[in-house]
Amino acid sequence: MSAQGEEEIRAGWIQMEHCDLKPEPEYDELLLSAAAAAATDWSSCSVGCRFAFSADKIADATFGLPQNPKTSSVLRSMESSHYYAENNIDLARRRGYKIIMTTSLSSDVPVGYFSWAEYDIMAPVGPKTADAFAAAFISNCGARNFRLQALERLEKSEIKIDSYGSCHRNRDGNVDKVETLKRYKFSLAFENSNEEDYVTEKFFQSLVAGTIPVVVGAPNIQDFAPSPGSVLHIKELADIDSVAKTMKYLGSNPDAFNKSLSWKYDGPSDSFKALVDMAAVHSSCRLCIHIATTIRENEEKSAKFQNRPCKCSNNKGTTYHLYVRERGRFEMESIYLRSWKLTLKELESVVLSKFMSLNHVPIWKKERPESIRGGDELKIYRIYPVGLTQRQALYKFKFETDEDLRKHIESNPCPKFEVIFV
Ligand SMILES: *[C@@H]1O[C@H](CO)[C@@H](O)[C@H](O)[C@H]1NC(C)=O
Repeated sequence: MSAQGEEEIRAGWIQMEHCDLKPEPEYDELLLSAAAAAATDWSSCSVGCRFAFSADKIADATFGLPQNPKTSSVLRSMESSHYYAENNIDLARRRGYKIIMTTSLSSDVPVGYFSWAEYDIMAPVGPKTADAFAAAFISNCGARNFRLQALERLEKSEIKIDSYGSCHRNRDGNVDKVETLKRYKFSLAFENSNEEDYVTEKFFQSLVAGTIPVVVGAPNIQDFAPSPGSVLHIKELADIDSVAKTMKYLGSNPDAFNKSLSWKYDGPSDSFKALVDMAAVHSSCRLCIHIATTIRENEEKSAKFQNRPCKCSNNKGTTYHLYVRERGRFEMESIYLRSWKLTLKELESVVLSKFMSLNHVPIWKKERPESIRGGDELKIYRIYPVGLTQRQALYKFKFETDEDLRKHIESNPCPKFEVIFV
């Protein structure tokens, strides 16, 4: 085959050769409806999803406890499950919820505190004019963790703390939080519980303010760090001495301190962007995509999809038909991989040429601050099978070898993938 022919196959411009090409089956029209209280701007969602109020009898999903067995019930909450046990994923499933939306990246449609619109993450670092090392905004001393003891023991370690919240208050709390934080080198971002992925505005406001967050909270807080070394974590009380020591070192060494904030100048890491770009698509839109994906999966089990061409063979080998979409979008693009070139590298290269041929613009492009939007080139961060949770997609799942990929493609006809661009 000519080089040009290769290119065409890679970009999926021509159909598989020597196949009895039946036309692709058409999907039924999606008419999603879900009962919801929140109004959202739907013009930007890649699937038409109608949100109605509770009288809607034929909703595909409703918020609240399971009632009609034909309707998926959705649990949506941003509270920690350490305070509200009903937000625990396993418990919610046992109670019959079909779709779970919590801060957990293991939930079906994660709802985090972050959004590019709400936090001006790249706001410049200001002069550190405060006398005290650290500022704390802790509304009350009660918590399901050791945050009060941590505060007291930092003070005992001679870390001077200005406290604006009602817990150990020594400053007038009637101030603008982010503007105030900007003057401090450190911010005590102490959550009320230490739960995986439970990361609230305390943390993100510290980043906006250009102060180093000292965290009591999510055990995986380093997943949320904008770059390595930019966040101090008190995992347990025994860490106080070493964290206090690090604070004193950074506090008295301007170059080392500035280095911890280098992401403010050079931009955050790819892993930070890949995590928080998720919020470029509103959670209600991601809910609709989740529901629509399930509906299509069920439709694909029907007879009309049984004979669709997922692969074809000739004397050279087999050509496989795969689908891929960007995270945060609904519609899939077709790509083709051949059995004699079934490698992870080839998958990436075919996905890249496909999206480049479409002049694809990543979904986060308009959301991110201009200084970290990058140019027109596309960069793949992850490719993973549709259906994985974000925890799996970002941190756990990986095709280790070409052989893993081959097995996946051979055992999943017309496999679907999602790609995250950074
Ligand atoms: C901090 O580092 C950046 C480069 O990473 C530099 O542009 C800036 O001037 C430094 N600021 C201080 C106060 O040293």
